[in-house]
This record gives sequence, structure tokens and C-alpha cells, in this order.
Amino acid sequence: MVLVTGGAGYIGSHTCVELLNAGYDICVLDNLSNSCEEALNRVKKITGKDFKFYKVDLLDYEGIDKVFSENKIEFVIHFAGLKAVGESVAKPLMYFENNVGGTINLLKVMTKYNVKKIVFSSSATVYGDKSPAPYVETLPCAAINPYGRTKLMIEKILQDIYASDNDWDIALLRYFNPVGAHSSGLIGEDPNGIPNNLMPYISQVAVGRLECLNIFGNDYDTKDGTGVRDYIHVVDLAIGHLKALDKIKNKVGVVIYNLGTGQGYSVLDMVNTYSKVLGRPINYKFVDRRPGDLAEYYADPSKAERELGFKATRTLEDMCRDTIRWQEGNKNGYRG
Ligand code: NAD
Ligand code: UD1
Repeated sequence: MVLVTGGAGYIGSHTCVELLNAGYDICVLDNLSNSCEEALNRVKKITGKDFKFYKVDLLDYEGIDKVFSENKIEFVIHFAGLKAVGESVAKPLMYFENNVGGTINLLKVMTKYNVKKIVFSSSATVYGDKSPAPYVETLPCAAINPYGRTKLMIEKILQDIYASDNDWDIALLRYFNPVGAHSSGLIGEDPNGIPNNLMPYISQVAVGRLECLNIFGNDYDTKDGTGVRDYIHVVDLAIGHLKALDKIKNKVGVVIYNLGTGQGYSVLDMVNTYSKVLGRPINYKFVDRRPGDLAEYYADPSKAERELGFKATRTLEDMCRDTIRWQEGNKNGYRG
């Protein structure tokens, strides 16, 4: 059985679908601080399969222990964590406590139950701002905000655990920019409040929840002056987790993979493709750069392709079409 922490969240829910479709038994642990149980009902609807859900906080050691005592867990995919960069700057202790503290509790319980195989959600943000794209896994890392530092610290903690006990097998997955939704339109990204990220912002402008997209800067040294990122369809990303799980079934120690497409798209590429697929324009205006943003950020995805046999196949049109289907069917997300 696979324990999915943060399984009610955006990437977690899509990964649950792929795990269930591939025949895995799963159980989900989530405190629902940034998600709804409805997402898990939808996962059951899509797959026609049932699984246990524990509303447990990773800061609750006994709660995690109960999940392990009641289930035969062999693998953990660890998504649970807070992820808003701006909030992490304002509330660093909350981020270190939740992300790092929560992970330490999880790892302690895993050790107790002799479960030593874990896939961890890291982020491309660990490459920091010192090296030019494309980012390859061997580059030195340097996080530039508290959120990024929690990811980098957890990577180091996992490497130290392996150094102390070679029975562990650990995959650190550095995601680039996950977007899109399941093709059923039943699950997708449902941020609380005003979105920080580009794709959910565009999609809320498209359905009239927000008036106008602010494009942060048109004077970058890129093809059209707007920021370039490596957007990966969330279902491709979910499939990457199954490949990583297959990998750590063998004795591999610690392995690190970028999950991206290797293709950079600008903000204007995103807006124009979204408008084309939607069939009407997206209202936007240019504003100042957002502090902390880089001009270009994209993966060298070749290691995951070589060693995991993972290659993202879904196109930018697919990402936009699936986002539109989800957003139009769920204008206010899971809250109805
Ligand atoms: P999400 O917020 O939708 O999902 C995270 C889930 O974890 C939520 O359901 C939340 O309720 C849960 N959670 C948070 N703290 C918890 C705790 N203490 N105990 C139990 N559950 C807790 O975010 P997501 O986009 O699905 O991201 C999943 C993971 O991937 C996160 O670790 C995130 O940092 C990482 N990541 C995300 C992105 C991205 O752009 N979405 C990029 C890189 C890395
Ligand atoms: C964000 C996070 C980063 C995380 C990554 C993965 C920040 C500062 N960084 O980065 O840590 O790893 O997501 O998902 O939050 N844009 C606009 N208008 C908007 C929103 C975004 O023009 O309203 C632009 C940005 O300037 C950027 C691009 O769109 O060029 C993508 O932005 P976003 O979706 O926030 O992702 P990242 O900046 O890559």
C-alpha cells in the first residue's frame, strides 16, 4: 500500500488517480488546510475505487502513528506541505514548523514501522538564482526564500537519513510549473483566495471571477520580454511519481530528478494559447516585475527520461483545454 500525504491537494489528488488506475492500494493523510475532502470523493468517482482517508496533521505524531498501525504501508509519497512563497516570507516559522517539522514526524514514524521508501515533492526553486537555465540535477542548490529553504532542508535531511542507514530508498522530485487538470474535469487546482500563480489567475479571469491579468514585467531578456517557465501538465507530473515509485522499489539510495518538459513558454505564450483554446481574449495589462522573479526557468529533463523512462507528452493546448474544462465546470472550485 502507498500512503499519500497531502493527497487531497492539487498534485496529490491527480497522483491518487494514477496510482489507483495502475492497481495500487492507497490511503491518504491530509489535514485539509489547503484542500477539501470533495477532491477525494472525485478521485473515487473517476477511478471507481475506494480508499481510506485520515484527516491528520503531520504535526500530530500519534495521528501519523495510527495511520501506520492500521495499514500495511510499504511506500510513502509525501506531498503534504505549505507552498506559498510570499506567505513563507511573512511567516517563516510556520513554514519551517509545518514543512520541516511535519516531515521529521513522518520520517520518525516511518523508521518505527520500518517503511524506508519515500518519494518527496521538492521544487525547481532549490536551483535558486545563481545558475542559468536549463537546470540540471548536478547544479549547486541555493534557495532564495523560506519556502525554498524548507524544500532544500528536507532534501538534506533525507540524504542524511540515507547516509545513516542505507536501507532507505528515496526519490527527490524537483517539479517545474505544474498546470492543467484531469481530463474528466472533475479535479483540478483550487487555490484559496486570489491565486499567486499564473495559470489559475488566467483561468479565473476567463470565467469572470477576476477582472484582468497583471503580467509582471515585459522588459525581461526573453523572446517577448515576459517571464519564461517550464509548464508541465499535472497528469504527466503524476505519472512521473509512478515512475519514481518503480525506481525506488529497487535498491537505489537517494535519486534526484527534475520533472519538467524542458520547453520554456513565456507569459504571453500562455495567455495567447489559453485565449485560442477558449475562443475569446483574456484581459491583461503589463505591470512592474514581481520581486524575486527570474527571467527564465526551465528544466533539463533528460535524466528522468534516461533513468525513469519518463517524458511529459501533454502539450500546452492540452494544459489549457483541461484547465478550461475544470474551471468552467467548477467556477468556484470544490466549494460549489
Ligand atoms: P496543495 O496545497 O494543493 O497540496 C498540499 C496538501 O498538503 C494540501 O492538501 C494540504 O491540506 C496538505 N497539508 C499541508 N500541510 C499539512 C500538514 N501539516 N499535515 C497534513 N497535510 C498537510 O499543493 P500542491 O500544489 O498539490 O503541492 C504538493 C507538493 O508539491 C507540496 O509539497 C509543494 O510544495 C510541492 N510543489 C508544488 C509546486 C506547485 O507549483 N504546485 C511546485 C513545486 C513543488
Ligand atoms: C512560483 C513560485 C516558485 C514555485 C513555482 C512552481 C513564487 C515567487 N515562486 O514560481 O517557488 O516553485 O511557482 O509552481 O511564487 N505571472 C504574471 N502574473 C501573475 C502570476 C504570474 O505575470 O499574476 C508570471 C510570473 O512573473 C512568471 C510566470 O508568470 O514569469 C509564472 O509565475 P508563477 O505561476 O507564479 O510561477 P513561478 O514564478 O515560476
